[in-house]
Amino acid sequence: MTIKKICGIGAGYVGGPTCSVIAMMCPDIRVTVVDKSKEKIAQWNSDKLPIYEPGLDVVVEKCRGKNLFFSTDIEAAIKEADLIFISVNTPTKTFGIGKGRAADLKYVENTARMIADVATSDKIVVEKSTVPVRAAESIMHILRANHKPGVSYQILSNPEFLAEGTAIDNLMNPDRVLIGGEDSPQGREAVEKLCKIYENWIKRDKIFTTNTWSSELSKLAANAFLAQRISSINSLSAVCEATGADVTEVARAVGLDSRIGSKFLQASVGFGGSCFQKDLLNLVYICECLNLPEVAAYWQQVIDMNEYQKSRFSTKVIESLFNTVTDKRITMLGFAFKKNTGDTRESPAISVAKNLLDEGAVLHIYDPKVEESQIIDNLSAFDVDNIKNRVNIYHDAYSATKNTHAIVLCTEWDEFIELDYERIYSEMTKPAYIFDGRKILDHEKLQKIGFIVQTIGKRVSRIAVSRTWGSPTQM
Ligand code: NAI
Repeated sequence: MTIKKICGIGAGYVGGPTCSVIAMMCPDIRVTVVDKSKEKIAQWNSDKLPIYEPGLDVVVEKCRGKNLFFSTDIEAAIKEADLIFISVNTPTKTFGIGKGRAADLKYVENTARMIADVATSDKIVVEKSTVPVRAAESIMHILRANHKPGVSYQILSNPEFLAEGTAIDNLMNPDRVLIGGEDSPQGREAVEKLCKIYENWIKRDKIFTTNTWSSELSKLAANAFLAQRISSINSLSAVCEATGADVTEVARAVGLDSRIGSKFLQASVGFGGSCFQKDLLNLVYICECLNLPEVAAYWQQVIDMNEYQKSRFSTKVIESLFNTVTDKRITMLGFAFKKNTGDTRESPAISVAKNLLDEGAVLHIYDPKVEESQIIDNLSAFDVDNIKNRVNIYHDAYSATKNTHAIVLCTEWDEFIELDYERIYSEMTKPAYIFDGRKILDHEKLQKIGFIVQTIGKRVSRIAVSRTWGSPTQM
């Protein structure tokens, strides 16, 4: 039996784009994406999709209503599917055992229970969500303990490696597709069926099959390695600022070593997004549970370095503005955790905003793709006095910067590079400051205009390089 009908449970950043691309590349397969959120499904069925992802609208438009459907009827979609992708969220637990570190598998477990309740025919259940190693075992327990006569299940691990902002390209041209399954004839047969789906557009040599546990752990490991590279270069950015070295030059020199490679060596205000911190915390927790405290401490340091980087940047802003930002108007350019997405989960901009608000600043925020309500929601999570009067959201960079004392750039949107900074400077309060947390602006040009410029991993504005290990002095 080949796969004719697929059900994707979870219509979020992963489930939506993944199932849409599968539908586009496999016109003979009927793909139904389901979610418990009525609003989200209504948006998937409208012209304004619930997530911003370059190229996604074209893919959805091509297939929606033909072999791609978005629905809230989860039961019907499960019942008719041969293969089910579980792409629900697996956030960090906020209470109970493992609070603040372990992955909360309640959504995954709920879907497993629903599948067990509803299914009347054999199913291949594919874990696409990022889960702790051996999570497939729990899903299998639930399914087998509740199975109906004549219904059998195979559980596969097929972690998703797409990155937000480049999801469609990543899905169309992945570095690899990873599929883990049970080492049994039925397990191998299920793996083969999933391979066949991907082979519609991906060469077989890019599809890597492993045992289930290797596949689950590899996803956590990949995110841990990526986050580690960012924390490594960010740790050196602090050394650069203290010595006069330039972290861009250091990253290039280091990355030219083919054993190291040049990708993911960009120093910044810190990493964000829904995955790196969550998956690292999860890995740390797993290591602790496995009684491997040294391994746990090793990976914990990657998270700690990220926290340090975010607070170091906020402190730099406050110190430069004469150690007080109380009642100062500060523009934040960018609020998403990176460019080309409207996602703000764990965005470093949130931490920076909180630190500035704690010090009494008034924020003017502009992001090209983040909704106003999202920004207010993110900041309302903190106990900040009078937030409505102290956070102003703008719909363009020029209004957001007018009459402010400083610009803090937190997201590397291309449009920020092209702004008319002469105009911006002329309309700001003087002295006018720019803090480039993403190292994307032309600092020399900005200085010529008159800005006082600070960035990560390099001294830009009129700071004397100390020849000793004492603290540098600003001139
Ligand atoms: P998301 O929060 O955007 O989407 C998850 C969706 O699942 C939500 O719309 C929610 O309503 C739905 N859902 C939860 N329980 C449900 C249930 N019982 N029935 C139906 N729908 C249900 O999450 P996102 O970002 O798509 O992540 C999903 C998984 O993929 C996570 O495990 C994440 O770690 C992993 N992942 C995320 C990546 C990313 O860049 N966002 C990249 C690679 C993996």
